[in-house]
Amino acid sequence: MNQWKEKYQHKIVSAEQAVKHIQSGHRVVTGHACGEPQVLIEALVARASEVENVEIVHMVAMGPAKYTQPEMEKSFRHNALFVGGTTRKAVEEKRADFTPCFFSEIPRLFKEKILPVDVALIQITTPDEQGFCSYGVSADYTKVAAECAQIVIAQINQCLPRTGGAEIHLDDIHFIVEYDEPLIELRPPKIGDIEKAIGENVAGLIPDGATLQLGIGAIPDAVLLFLTDKKDLGIHSEMFSDGVVSLAEAGVITNQKKNINPGKFMATFLMGTKRLYDFVDHNPDVELQSVDYINDPCIIGQHHNMISINSALQVDLMGEVNAEMIGSKQFSGVGGQVDFIRGASRSLNGKSIIALPSTAAGGKISRIACELDRGAAVTTSRNDVHYVVTEYGIAELRGKSLRERALALIAISHPDFRPILRNQAKEKGLI
Ligand code: COA
Repeated sequence: MNQWKEKYQHKIVSAEQAVKHIQSGHRVVTGHACGEPQVLIEALVARASEVENVEIVHMVAMGPAKYTQPEMEKSFRHNALFVGGTTRKAVEEKRADFTPCFFSEIPRLFKEKILPVDVALIQITTPDEQGFCSYGVSADYTKVAAECAQIVIAQINQCLPRTGGAEIHLDDIHFIVEYDEPLIELRPPKIGDIEKAIGENVAGLIPDGATLQLGIGAIPDAVLLFLTDKKDLGIHSEMFSDGVVSLAEAGVITNQKKNINPGKFMATFLMGTKRLYDFVDHNPDVELQSVDYINDPCIIGQHHNMISINSALQVDLMGEVNAEMIGSKQFSGVGGQVDFIRGASRSLNGKSIIALPSTAAGGKISRIACELDRGAAVTTSRNDVHYVVTEYGIAELRGKSLRERALALIAISHPDFRPILRNQAKEKGLI
């Protein structure tokens, strides 16, 4: 028997026993998105009456995030590196904190002990013959958190697909909880006529052989619908979802023209349904790596024809992008948006695209605005954006003056808002 196999048996505990090692005041970093170690988080929440001030740090919350409930306030404080649907209210009500940071730089916060990690809660696959486990659907900051933590508690889940790339050896884990449960799934979004029109406009900017980064949601999925006639596309993306599987099966995404990691779908996490998880499981062409590699603008920028496609809540008439706040309320976070926009800008023949519907709130609010909402942050600066796309067309901003930008952006705003925007732009001295 290999040495690790003997040790493995001694490390197996129940979820309840494992989380007993978490003490008041500890900083606990958890895997996130669809890779959340659900059983460990539930067990930690069940200890609420025994602990105080445990800080829970993660990015996208897809689970119920019960530790953010008002009655948990004394026991747990969530520090959101990205705000999600189940954590938004707690952040808004100041029962949880939000820490702005580029996704690519989160590993440095842990490594350089700016946010020292006491405990990492991770989810991994069963070990291979040598004792290595795959991070499955979430390598991102989770791998580095585990490397930096004083205590590593791992849920080994047989339902987790085995992906290539980032892995951890059982020797580097302190407590193992064997617990099989279905992964959290992200259902494909509803794609309406507006998203389809945006998708078609964006698809027109994508040449054969391009390498793509796609964000989350209806717009990236709508773009994929219009790529069926393209050839030899590649993926180097923070994440990807079910939409990519259809194009891979149709032979549109081959990754063959990638000059970095040719032949490989590269990502740092995955969110989707069982269809995606089955596609990536033991697929030699899929590789998940830590976010400080995948989202490194210098790595992204080495790809030729790199196209980044991200969305926003608002774009002002200078081209400043707000992708994370509604007024002064934190809605999400920068995630990897700037990482990829910067990377795509450095890429030979690269393009960075911000795609968004022209209006929100049933057409009552223009998302092309003379100024960003009072209190909102600039997620992506006006210097970084190449293209802004709505259902009304494409505004190319790179190399354009402020006057030209304002005119180009007004031209892709909703027709009902164009006269108001023109007046506001004149008052502001933009045109
Ligand atoms: N004013 C007021 N409300 C607005 C608004 C605005 N300017 N823009 C959008 N909204 C509302 C919408 O109406 C919608 O409300 P509803 O849920 O009640 O319908 C809600 O805000 C969300 O807008 P939507 O356009 O559906 O958001 P989305 O789910 O497509 O996400 C971002 C868009 C920008 C929030 C998301 O892409 C994001 O977080 N980006 C930053 C991170 C990133 O880009 N990562 C990149 C790699 S994954």
